[in-house]
Amino acid sequence: MQLKSSPAAKPRHFIDLSDLDAATLRRIVDMAHAMKAAGKRPPPDLIPKDIADQVLIMIFEKPSTRTRVSFDVAMRQLGGQTIVLNDKDTQLGRGEPVSDTAKVLSRYGDAMMLRVNAHATLTELAAHATIPVINGLSELSHPCQIVADLMTFEEARGPIKGAVVAWAGDGNNVAASWIHAATRLNFTLRLACPPQLNPERAVLDWAKNAGGRIELTDDADAAISGADCVVTDTWVSMGQEDASKRKQLLGPYAVDDRLMAKAKKDAIFMHCLPAYRGHEVSASVIDGPQSVVWDEAENRLHAQKAILAWCLGVG
Ligand code: CP
Ligand code: NVA
Repeated sequence: MQLKSSPAAKPRHFIDLSDLDAATLRRIVDMAHAMKAAGKRPPPDLIPKDIADQVLIMIFEKPSTRTRVSFDVAMRQLGGQTIVLNDKDTQLGRGEPVSDTAKVLSRYGDAMMLRVNAHATLTELAAHATIPVINGLSELSHPCQIVADLMTFEEARGPIKGAVVAWAGDGNNVAASWIHAATRLNFTLRLACPPQLNPERAVLDWAKNAGGRIELTDDADAAISGADCVVTDTWVSMGQEDASKRKQLLGPYAVDDRLMAKAKKDAIFMHCLPAYRGHEVSASVIDGPQSVVWDEAENRLHAQKAILAWCLGVG
């Protein structure tokens, strides 16, 4: 008898874009474009084998609108099924070991997607799970978001290779996944952050060693000047408690019309959402003609289908 826990091929975890080689990331973004072009019925060659029998288990330790709903709809459009839980509803929330949870969920489901407080939960799950583990955001990274962002850039501006993307604001989890993506797909990423809120040293060192074109400054005007795309994110991420200090440090990095005008004339504006108008971005920018945030939010759905398909063995 073959139990699910028997030694088998290593699951295709999706924890960080830095774990993927360039060709794999490129393939996932291309699959996301193809998923979108096909509408609600994915192309047959991108549908995982036996999908009707497969279940995606999702656990959220933090709130979510886009990630929760887009993964649920994506799995259904692929033909599979979903279970969505908050961590407080599970024994994880009462301290059951992560490794035990990984082994048990691997006996029930076919993939798991988690939004976690501590990135280490994901890596520990991945070490013990025999099904793919997907990072639905941690304090360190948000790789699913960036697959959607890459496809959004390419829809609006063509291939991202060689482009210049500018980030203004907190050097946070979303910025880290942008750094991974820029390094893998060969585009320039200019980050303007207050020095106290620079990206994690480990992420910058990884990019440097991997040959990434990552430029770090504290000058938002310089970073955005001539860019093809301007990106920002909330000044206070989930779980952060020093809101007033952050708002003070990040004030000069607010993306408003003056700053946006430094970018190329046809530059686009992106934000993963949720957004706080009047803080990291002005209403005139996020609701203005250069903003592609609604396409970006829609593309989470198409990107999730591509990520799920890849994790479940396609491509
Ligand atoms: N961008 C993003 O991940 O949104 P949610 O927090 O709503 O999932
Ligand atoms: N940086 C934000 C992203 C939300 C999708 C956070 O972690 O709260």
